[in-house]
Amino acid sequence: MKLTETILRDAHQSLIATRMRIDEMLPALPLIDQIGFHSVECWGGATYDSCLRFLHEDPWERLRILRRELPHCKLQMLFRGQNMLGYRHYSDDTVTYFVQKIAANGMDIIRIFDALNDMRNLETAISAAKKEKSLHVQVAIPFTTGEIFTDDYFVKSAKEAENIGADSICLKDMAALLTPYRTGNLIHAIKKAVNIPVQLHTHSTSGLSAMCILKGAEAGLDYADTALSPLALGTSHTPTESIVAALQDTPYDTGLDLKKLAQLRSYFMKLRKKYLENGLLDPKLLAADASALLYQVPGGMLSNLLSQLKQAGKEEKFEEVLQEVPRVRKDAGEPPLVTPSSQIVGTQAALNIISGERYKMVTKEFREMIRGAYGRTPIPIDPEFQKKIIGDATPVICRPADLIEPELKKLQKECSDWMEQPEDVLSYAQFGQTALQFFRERRDKKFKIDSTYQESKIHPVL
Ligand code: CO
Repeated sequence: MKLTETILRDAHQSLIATRMRIDEMLPALPLIDQIGFHSVECWGGATYDSCLRFLHEDPWERLRILRRELPHCKLQMLFRGQNMLGYRHYSDDTVTYFVQKIAANGMDIIRIFDALNDMRNLETAISAAKKEKSLHVQVAIPFTTGEIFTDDYFVKSAKEAENIGADSICLKDMAALLTPYRTGNLIHAIKKAVNIPVQLHTHSTSGLSAMCILKGAEAGLDYADTALSPLALGTSHTPTESIVAALQDTPYDTGLDLKKLAQLRSYFMKLRKKYLENGLLDPKLLAADASALLYQVPGGMLSNLLSQLKQAGKEEKFEEVLQEVPRVRKDAGEPPLVTPSSQIVGTQAALNIISGERYKMVTKEFREMIRGAYGRTPIPIDPEFQKKIIGDATPVICRPADLIEPELKKLQKECSDWMEQPEDVLSYAQFGQTALQFFRERRDKKFKIDSTYQESKIHPVL
């Protein structure tokens, strides 16, 4: 079984609200490049937003640096189907253009999923990615629990993903809800049903992830996601070194060298110490917490909720908000909790508690989800509840993007004064004002795009 290293994306997204900077990554990259990971997850998810909003980094420049410094690694990213990396559905021409630019800047593996697991929302991204010969298309199926989420549900989803063009499947357990035996059974069933590799993505939140990976390995798992130990455990992933050691000299041997991994560990331990000292890393998130199995809240969402409540001076409401989450989720048609549905449900749960009355205040995004604008929810929404939330607005029953006119040209026009590279329109499309603020700072501070990175276009690694 091979490993995908997540320290450059999901591990810091889950533990330090996605604040690892490229200059903090750089010293480790030459060594990461030599380890022999199946792939290194390093882009997408919340990293793009965080680069623009908090880190004053151009996400595209980051990708080009990673490509240059990791020439022997397959780079992997997380992509939310028709949502791309933003928080609404985008037009098909924008999604296609984004996928083209991702390939042109050197990405190897694009992991695509839809928060509601509505496969119609993956069609455009998959067909665009299939046209880029250098891209491996992985379809991720969000794991969640609930009456309809039987093994058959996931097997059916896996087959559907294979049929619409997936090169591999990932069972994506963002909320750490998998238990070891369920994992074994599920991986076994999925492996039997499809003829493409299967990967497991699970978090350590509830303390079960290493056991899940072990049972998955025994059931024929091809790849698993882990994180180097300094940013592992808690709401992050299983420590890479532990899995390497556990599987040594077994049929599932990862083939990785523990001595080299120990060198990486000592580098990232210095960063960990810094994050603990500057408060970015909250030790609360490192404790195993099996209540995740009750609240069904993913790692990234736990750390975001806590920081949102801190900002509002309502930290003491954390427990109450966590208990409200499953109630809001039920009202919303039992969506798996993963970006953006996790933010939408999480924010609505927080509003319900902070305002003291449920649905007294409703976010625009929650209203849109209830309207069907994000796609089909796993369970139909109660019409009475829908009416209460959306009023006289028209419910959406088709593929949501069918209602969106092409918008790329218009967006290009709107931000043309600020464009320093063609990719800038994709920052503007997804992050609007935040992107403009970034462009302004980029111009004022005169931090320019380094053209040497732009030239290093496609690196065929696969
Ligand atoms: Co994750």
